[in-house]
Amino acid sequence: MSLRAIVLAAGRGTRMKSERPKVLFEVAGRSLLAWVLDAVAEVGADEVIVVVGHGADEVRAALPEGVRAVTQQPQLGTGHAVMAALAAVGEVGGDTILVVPGDTPLLRPETLRALVEARADAPASLLTTEMPDPTGYGRVVRRGSRVVGIVEQRDATPEQRVIREVAVSTYAFDGAALAAALAALGTGNDQGEYYLTDAVAALAADGEVRAVPVADPAEVQGINSQDQLATVVAEVRRRLNAAWMAAGVEMVDPGRVYLDAGVAVAAGARLYPGVHLEGRTTVGAGAVVGPDVFAVDSIIGPGARVWYSVLRGAEVGEGAQVGPFASLRPGTRLEAGAKVGTFVETKATVVGRGSKVPHLSYMGDASIGEDSNIGAGTITCNYDGREKHRTVIGDRVFIGSDTMLVAPVTIGDEATTGAGSVITRDVSPGALAVERSRQREVPGYAARKAKKASRKE
Ligand code: UD1
Ligand code: CA
Repeated sequence: MSLRAIVLAAGRGTRMKSERPKVLFEVAGRSLLAWVLDAVAEVGADEVIVVVGHGADEVRAALPEGVRAVTQQPQLGTGHAVMAALAAVGEVGGDTILVVPGDTPLLRPETLRALVEARADAPASLLTTEMPDPTGYGRVVRRGSRVVGIVEQRDATPEQRVIREVAVSTYAFDGAALAAALAALGTGNDQGEYYLTDAVAALAADGEVRAVPVADPAEVQGINSQDQLATVVAEVRRRLNAAWMAAGVEMVDPGRVYLDAGVAVAAGARLYPGVHLEGRTTVGAGAVVGPDVFAVDSIIGPGARVWYSVLRGAEVGEGAQVGPFASLRPGTRLEAGAKVGTFVETKATVVGRGSKVPHLSYMGDASIGEDSNIGAGTITCNYDGREKHRTVIGDRVFIGSDTMLVAPVTIGDEATTGAGSVITRDVSPGALAVERSRQREVPGYAARKAKKASRKE
């Protein structure tokens, strides 16, 4: 006796008008399918099978370990999809088969658990809900209180079309009963498909099919269009932000804060409008982020200040400052109290404790020690056209404005470079390195120039 879950994800998703398989569209940084698989995982199924078809290779590649893909080719309907899954598992007598569509990201594990429990000794149970507008859904047909079947919109009579209780492609079945019902399934409907809903009607003729009503239709709302996707994205964002605020995160305007589901923000952090935190980004206590920050897979430490900037795979230490208008690329790490300021780009660079790169610089493949200052306009020339090279800057170094550091190059502790220097050789600790032509002066230049001009007239 085991619980097997079948997730239906082979359909075309025609109304998304996209090449991308529908179940791979994302809500808060996770695919629709990932949301569903997480809910299914929490129910504790012994086996999870995803039926793939349209865009099968892409969907397969997105599956977590331990989830099995079964291909349904061609796609001849929801009943046909379950047949394909059962054919792959073999004997299912005595098992409970949970069927879930791959496009309902708000479905909660508690609801699935209730569905499985409701089936108990019955041949089947199904989730139903009262849709404000049931158009397009299969209507639940009852005789008295008894469920007798599900009729699709296109096959429904005018009387059936006014029914607001709909089926949402989420069922628990007795394995043997399901297998028998599928074997008897025909295609006598408007689309000529194998309808899983017809299997429910067949089971209802022999036994009791138990309806499990879901109070909030949003929970079982499938995503079929970009418009529905945007609605769910907004709802998930509202919920996530509300949860973070309840946990003590300050949001100046929560309607304009965009957090992926995998993000973590500590209590006492303040988020300004236009903050997009994606992937596994974390924000520490007392950090102030935004306005207008895009950060993916980055760490923003406690008490850090980041505004008008882009961070990708970057780490900002405690009390460090970033921006405005900085771009921190992968491998950037700012130690405590460091600063990367206005119009600065960094890549694979460590900025040591208390060091500053305040203006108009590029630091790539570099390490900067502690309490060093990098003058405005300084650039690490890390690429020679073929390879990347490293720049190593020590502690308490003063790099003059507009220094070109031609890597590989090392600047010793407490060294200084003169403004405008092109540094091609290592600089010893404590030394001053200047590379520029001596300034000369031409006295009376302006007067001579004026005289020349007047002669021409
Ligand atoms: C189906 C149900 C309908 C229900 C509605 C919303 C049937 C006949 N109708 O209708 O009662 O109200 O969903 O839940 O079951 N799929 C496959 N293979 C296929 C066809 C579909 O895997 O051959 C998958 C889709 O990827 C999707 C799910 O099944 O995840 C539902 O398919 P969809 O085309 O949206 O079904 P509807 O016709 O809207
Ligand atoms: Ca120069």
